[in-house]
Amino acid sequence: MKHFLGVWDISSNDIKRLFSIALDLECYLNMSHSDSVQATLSPRWEKLMGTLFLEPSTRTRISFEVAMKRMGGDVVSVADGKSCSKEKGESLEDTIRTMSQYVDLLIVRANEAHGCWGQKNFACPVINGGDGGNEHPTQALVDAFTIWKCFNTLSDLNVAFVGDLFNGRTVHSLARLLVRERRNNFYLLGEPELPHTYFFDTTSKKSVTKEEFLDILPNIDVLYMTRMQSERGTKGGPPFVLGKNIVDRMHRDAIVMHPLPRLQELPRCIDDNHRAVYFDQVKNGVPVRMALIRWLFEKW
Ligand code: NCD
Repeated sequence: MKHFLGVWDISSNDIKRLFSIALDLECYLNMSHSDSVQATLSPRWEKLMGTLFLEPSTRTRISFEVAMKRMGGDVVSVADGKSCSKEKGESLEDTIRTMSQYVDLLIVRANEAHGCWGQKNFACPVINGGDGGNEHPTQALVDAFTIWKCFNTLSDLNVAFVGDLFNGRTVHSLARLLVRERRNNFYLLGEPELPHTYFFDTTSKKSVTKEEFLDILPNIDVLYMTRMQSERGTKGGPPFVLGKNIVDRMHRDAIVMHPLPRLQELPRCIDDNHRAVYFDQVKNGVPVRMALIRWLFEKW
């Protein structure tokens, strides 16, 4: 049985295959106003997905639920930790184990960073929808798909991660995914810093000051902004606030990404810039998660 608890659970080759499936699915979704396409896309599928979300979520939970419904399956949802027995003191491991008995696939957003997967005593495939300040591997797939569509590759890129690098789980998972590709360079702007363990090849990673960051900005291909995670104890404002004139110093094909929700680090005045792709990331969430569900159930 396959699970997807971290990006290490899928090979680099399978990721590329998943992306080409997601591209096809995206085409279908774009045409889905046509009844005949809708019928092909979602014949009834006797699979039931559970979503167990113990932290707030807009994009991850809804895009998973939409993905499953577009594929013709059904969904049961715990959208709030207060409405399940975890509130009575049940361990997360037992709650996951219990829910996995009822469904064919379970998406879990946990409020614990490490070890919540226990002995992996799950009765169905489980997907990590974000575990505390640790990992968010499906967001990494969505982000990588967005990058791949823009650059036609996941290699030879200069990537800057800016914001809460210590507690920002989307950064952790995307760094782990991109570090496996070839000749990517990473520039980090944020305090406290991203734990060293996310980068195997230390020569490709450089922590930069705000001044150094502004100097290298014209060479950056992917600028990945994140919010400060105050709910995880991060104090203070963002290390950098993006401005209109700053984005204009990036090269023409560079992109500005953000997993959202955004706070003051990414003002709305950037939204009209052609480099802003964060709402494309949002949209890509559905086809990528549909393709991931197929990967879980199919032999590749
Ligand atoms: C992120 C998350 O939940 O980690 N959002 C998302 O899933 N798109 C980012 C965040 O909360 O800052």
